[in-house]
Amino acid sequence: MKYITIALAKGRLAKKALEMLEQVGITCEEMKDPNSRKLIFTNEELKLRFFLAKANDVPTYVEYGAADIGVVGKDTILEEGRKMYEVLDLNLGKCRMCVAGPASAKELLHHGELIRVATKYPNIAKDYFYNKKHQTVEIIKLNGSIELAPIVGLAEVIVDIVETGSTLRENGLEVLEEICPLSARVVVNQVSMKMEHERITKMINDLREVLNNLIY
Ligand code: PRP
Repeated sequence: MKYITIALAKGRLAKKALEMLEQVGITCEEMKDPNSRKLIFTNEELKLRFFLAKANDVPTYVEYGAADIGVVGKDTILEEGRKMYEVLDLNLGKCRMCVAGPASAKELLHHGELIRVATKYPNIAKDYFYNKKHQTVEIIKLNGSIELAPIVGLAEVIVDIVETGSTLRENGLEVLEEICPLSARVVVNQVSMKMEHERITKMINDLREVLNNLIY
């Protein structure tokens, strides 16, 4: 039997995703050791391998087949635009991709003005402004603390993730437009889906059942 390799996005999602996988018998004891510096973990019995990667790299591993399955946020999936199947919404890490800024910036969004948009997600921002709103904007790529941009005058608005909304509130900003809902998704390499169809669909169906039991 071939190994099936699962890539998990490092960070907030990984722990919850592992707990969910554990509920369907996909476990990896080795991975729980917080002191380990190992990068890849194996469950010999189930012929599974797991690794943690930077969220943005998960779609890359999955598209190239270095991982058969990935668990990653919808934000990263949209931003990276990789070829792969998105097969399941895990309902974890629910939040929203939004256009945000000071209340005074609202009218700039209605009159199609040339504004500056700061974001960690330039592709999502481009798609939203160019293809959906047909508004020409200047996109400025940042790598974190995006909320700073409108405060210090780098941009009129931002495109960023809003979860509780407290970062915006505490900085005098608000949601101006909602782009899309986000949550963690399971993605699958297109070739793996054919070659390991039985094992992969069983995993997905088992996970779906756990999710259904959680919801109802
Ligand atoms: C994310 C996001 C917002 C914040 C939203 O940032 O970019 O800044 O969380 O959460 P809230 O609505 O619950 O306040 P993250 O903490 O990942 O760090 P970053 O600013 O470095 O991207």
